Amino acid sequence: MSEATNIYPIYDKMMTRADKEQLLGQRGVMIWLTGLSGSGKSTVAMGVERELHKRGILCRILDGDNIRSGINRNLGFSAEDREENIRRIAEVGKLFVETGIVTLAAFISPTNAYRTMAANIIGADDFREVYISTPIEVCEQRDVKGLYARARRGEIKDFTGVSAPFEVPAHPALTLDTSTLSLEESVNKVLELILNNK
Ligand code: ADX
Repeated sequence: MSEATNIYPIYDKMMTRADKEQLLGQRGVMIWLTGLSGSGKSTVAMGVERELHKRGILCRILDGDNIRSGINRNLGFSAEDREENIRRIAEVGKLFVETGIVTLAAFISPTNAYRTMAANIIGADDFREVYISTPIEVCEQRDVKGLYARARRGEIKDFTGVSAPFEVPAHPALTLDTSTLSLEESVNKVLELILNNK
């Protein structure tokens, strides 16, 4: 990969994050949802977005469908590509957080190393890890996209939880099992995490 040289970012003349947070009357934060495909990450994120919007809080969801069909459409699911996927998401997410926006990232982000990288890019103070711990049996039963069935038939290689690893987060700020909690309960717990962040 070529490294850019002679780059001089100009930050001192730009309006600051504090200016933007004051304008919006809110604090930027990254809510990083991690969990298996079909665990409920995007559904919870959308529920939280709706509730925040109602309360006048500006929010942005980043998820597989909008990121992998756009900025990351050249990436697949090898370990190397997943790492680059998460790196770009974290860098983009940081731009939103620094604009004072409550940002929700919904990606499998299957390893501790990827999640730690994301936390380091965004900064630990602005990063809250939320583990959507829905068991694989439930995700597989839901199989909303039919991908587990295809992965079991060997039609998709390196499928997380089937033929590629998922590491359970060690110290998430919150753990939500959407097979035992209602959507409303899950959404409320994430809301609490965000609203106690002032
Ligand atoms: S990540 O591992 O790089 O964080 P990401 O969240 O962006 O993954 O994308 C996961 C989504 O891509 C899944 O919900 C599923 O719809 C789809 N997908 C396609 N192939 C795979 C695969 N091999 N493993 C996991 N998800 C896959």
